[in-house]
Formats: sequence, structure tokens, C-alpha cells
Amino acid sequence: MPFDLDTYLSDKKKLIEDKLNSLLRNPGAPLGTLEESIRYSALAGGKRLRPILSIAACEAIGGNADKALPLACTIEMIHTYSLIHDDLPSMDDDALRRGVPTNHTVFGEAAAILSGDALLTDAFYVMVNEGLSSGIEAETLCEIVRDISKAAGSRGMIRGQAIDLQIETLAEDGGELSLQDIELMHSLKTGALIEVSVTAGAKIGGSDERQLEQLAIYGRSVGLAFQIVDDVLDVVGVGDMGKESGNDARNEKATYAHIAGIEASKERASELTQSAVEALSEFGDAARPLKEIAQYLGGRKS
Ligand code: IPE
Ligand code: IPE
Ligand code: MG
Ligand code: MG
Ligand code: MG
Repeated sequence: MPFDLDTYLSDKKKLIEDKLNSLLRNPGAPLGTLEESIRYSALAGGKRLRPILSIAACEAIGGNADKALPLACTIEMIHTYSLIHDDLPSMDDDALRRGVPTNHTVFGEAAAILSGDALLTDAFYVMVNEGLSSGIEAETLCEIVRDISKAAGSRGMIRGQAIDLQIETLAEDGGELSLQDIELMHSLKTGALIEVSVTAGAKIGGSDERQLEQLAIYGRSVGLAFQIVDDVLDVVGVGDMGKESGNDARNEKATYAHIAGIEASKERASELTQSAVEALSEFGDAARPLKEIAQYLGGRKS
């Protein structure tokens, strides 16, 4: 059967959402505000890009998608927590996410903070619990837990979020911000989790050193391109993004689009997409989904 990206994405999305739905059920516990608020954000939709990348990377190595699925879902739990906290009034102060009012506007700030805390911590509980029962070797699992915690914490995503709030401190001697400064922030706040989604999937699939290195380049390039395109869409977005556009300007965010302009940003995103695709050159047909995902993301309109 010829490969069709839309079908691939919607099939994987369904698998991920069914699994997430069952992982986020706490048997025995009554459905209180905490569970309601967690499920509200985690099951509200979204592209499910990170877990899809994990599964596609596992498959690119010849691994089994079922083995990657639970871990892939835990990365989506971490991502969802990051969005709930990113939208808080003390952060980006956003009202709309995934097409619905943001968590804190519905459940209040305290519940939103706790839901994020729970999703982050539960992700690691589920990672170990489900990882072992889905047959991932203990040593590989330990490595993956290390990689994901590194990517999500103060060496990765949270460092990027902190820089996002204080980007001016990166500019040397109070000078202008450089594109490298912006790329560093993007690589940390968004790239790190996307890269680890790919490498975790590859490790579950049994990748060798060379494959892992190439897939890390792929993940890094896609991750940076993804945030550059997100910033562009915040300026020019007309599609159904499920979140408000124009908020980066309102919050006076330093973005790639702001510093380099829209055209240069699009060029940089397509250069990065090209690098991502080149990194797959030794993988053959099994990496076709990864290749088409990179191309689709580089030119996405929503
Ligand atoms: C939004 O991520 C936050 C960024 C890193 C730009 P996504 O665009 O993947 O959001 P969802 O998961 O589809 O809602
Ligand atoms: C969010 O970046 C990155 C993380 C949540 C870690 P943005 O602030 O640009 O994401 P959106 O535009 O709110 O989705
Ligand atoms: Mg933000
Ligand atoms: Mg934001
Ligand atoms: Mg944005």
C-alpha cells in the first residue's frame, strides 16, 4: 500500500489518545478536580507530534510500535504539563490552548499548577512502570529516563523557558540579541524534548551508535525548525492553531521572526528541514514517515 502521511498521522494519533486515556485513569480514585483538570488538557487534542516521532523513530530502526507507545505517551504528558504552565498568567498569560480555554481559566491557577506537577511526576512513574512491563530492558529504560529527565529539566526545556522570560540577559554587554541567542533558547525550550522523543524511540527500537547519532541530528533539526515555524505562525497564522496568535508581540517576546523577519525565518526552517532529511539518508524506506513528518512540519500552516 502506498504511504500516506495523513493516514499515518491519524492512525498514530488514535493509538496515542486511546493509550493516554487509559494511562490517565486512576482506578479507585474518584474523579475529582485534579483528575478532571489533567484529563481536560491532556485529552483536548493537539498534534501529538512528540509521541508520533518516538513511534516513527522506533519503526525506522525496525522496532515494534507497541513497545514504544507507553513511553511515547509519557513524553506527551510532560509536553502537556509544559503547556499548562506556559499559559499561566505569570508566564505567557494565554486564554486559548488546543482550541479550548486554557486550564487555569477553567480550573483556576492552583489547580493548573497542580495538574502540571502531577503530569510531570506521573510521567516518570508511568515510564518505569509501563516501560518494564512492555519489555524494555532495565538498562535501556534507565538510560531513557536519564535522557528524558535531562531534556525536560534545568539542562533542557526549563532552562529554555527561563531564558524565554529573561532573554535580554543573553545579549552580551547589553548589546543586540543574536540569532544564535534565539536558537539556543529554542533548542532548549522546544528542541530538547523533540530530540529526546526521537532518540528514546530509537533506543527502544534497538538502534546502534551510528543510527542514534543520525537520529539525534534529525531530532535537533526538526525541534529547532518547529519553534521557528511556531514563532512565524504567531505572526502570520491564520489556520486553525487552537491558540491565539499575536501573543508573542503582545508579550514583547524575542523570537526568530522578530529578529530576522518572516522570510529569513522561513528560509532557516527549510534549511533545518533539509538537514533533518539528510540525516535519514542511510535509513531507507523505514524512515519515510520521519522524512515526511519533517517536511510537513517545516511548511505547516497550523
Ligand atoms: C506548542 O507545541 C508549544 C511549542 C513548543 C511551540 P505544539 O505545537 O506541539 O502543541 P500541541 O501539542 O499540538 O497542542
Ligand atoms: C512554549 O513555547 C515552549 C514550551 C511550552 C516549553 P511558546 O510559548 O512559543 O508556545 P505556545 O506558542 O504558547 O504554544
Ligand atoms: Mg512560552
Ligand atoms: Mg506560550
Ligand atoms: Mg509560540
